[in-house]
This record gives sequence, C-alpha cells and structure tokens, in this order.
Amino acid sequence: MAIQHPQDLFLLQLAEMYDIEQKLAQVLPELARETQDPQARQAFLEHEQETRQHVLNIQQCFQILGRQPVAMENHAVKGLKQDHDTFIQQHPPQDILTLFDLSAGSQSEYLEMAYYQSLIDAANTLGYQQCVPLFQQNLQQEMAAAQKLATISHQLSMKSAQSAHGV
Ligand SMILES: [Fe+2]
Ligand SMILES: [Fe+2]
Repeated sequence: MAIQHPQDLFLLQLAEMYDIEQKLAQVLPELARETQDPQARQAFLEHEQETRQHVLNIQQCFQILGRQPVAMENHAVKGLKQDHDTFIQQHPPQDILTLFDLSAGSQSEYLEMAYYQSLIDAANTLGYQQCVPLFQQNLQQEMAAAQKLATISHQLSMKSAQSAHGV
C-alpha cells in the first residue's frame, strides 16, 4: 500500500485496527480461560462479545468506503501476546497471572482508544462521517472496558497484598 495522502494513512490505520480487533477477539477468550477469578473471567468474556461487534463495525466502515476489508498486521498486539507467553513460562501464581492479564488487557484498550481517536479525527476531516458513529461506539466500549479492568485489578491487588502480608 503506497502511502502518499491522508486518505492512505486513514486506510492503513483502519486496516491495522481490523487486525487488532480480530486478534483481540481471539485473545480475550484465552485470557478468560486462563484466570480463575470469576469477575476477571466475566469482564474478558463480555468484552470478547463487544470486540466481535467492533470487527463488524470496522467491516461496515470499509463497506461505506466501497472497499474490501483488509487487515494489516499490528505489531503492538503481537508484542503484548509475546510478553504474555514469556511471562507464563515463569509459572506465576494464579493471582499474579490474573493481575498480569488485567494489565495486558488495559494496555490493549488504551492502544485501541488511541487508534479510534485518530480514526474519528481523520474521518471527520476527510469527509467519512458515516464511519464516525461506528468508531465512537467502539471507543466508548474500549473506555468502559479499560475502566472495568482497572477496577477489578485494584480489588484483586488489594486482596493479594493482604494475603501476602498474612492479614
Ligand atoms: Fe475493540
Ligand atoms: Fe477493546
């Protein structure tokens, strides 16, 4: 893909977002299986459902633009997955693994938020307004998911700290 114009950058970032959402739709159920904490599991599974809709919303934006959906590999999510796989080789206890997964989940939400903010801004500037509500719906759900993961993480880290101190 030759990148010469703002439209090309928009399409590149849309294609990267398509890859990110598809990868996360695979990773979230894996995280849900990995944790024994019911709240964390529930949060990962609920966001998996939302993420499946995010994939469809991006497909719809491609359709609005009269283009076939294409995915361009995003290395940030791949890197998060690799870090996770390295971490797990150290056989962390369950509560620490869940805290790690919640943090990794938050990192992916902030990455998504940054992409959607850029995409919304570019769509408004370039006259692709029909895509904006689709991006906004995704962005709102990423923000809510990040907040939920942070709350669960806070509660679990308090619990882990207390049991580590024998309280
Ligand atoms: Fe998403
Ligand atoms: Fe997300």
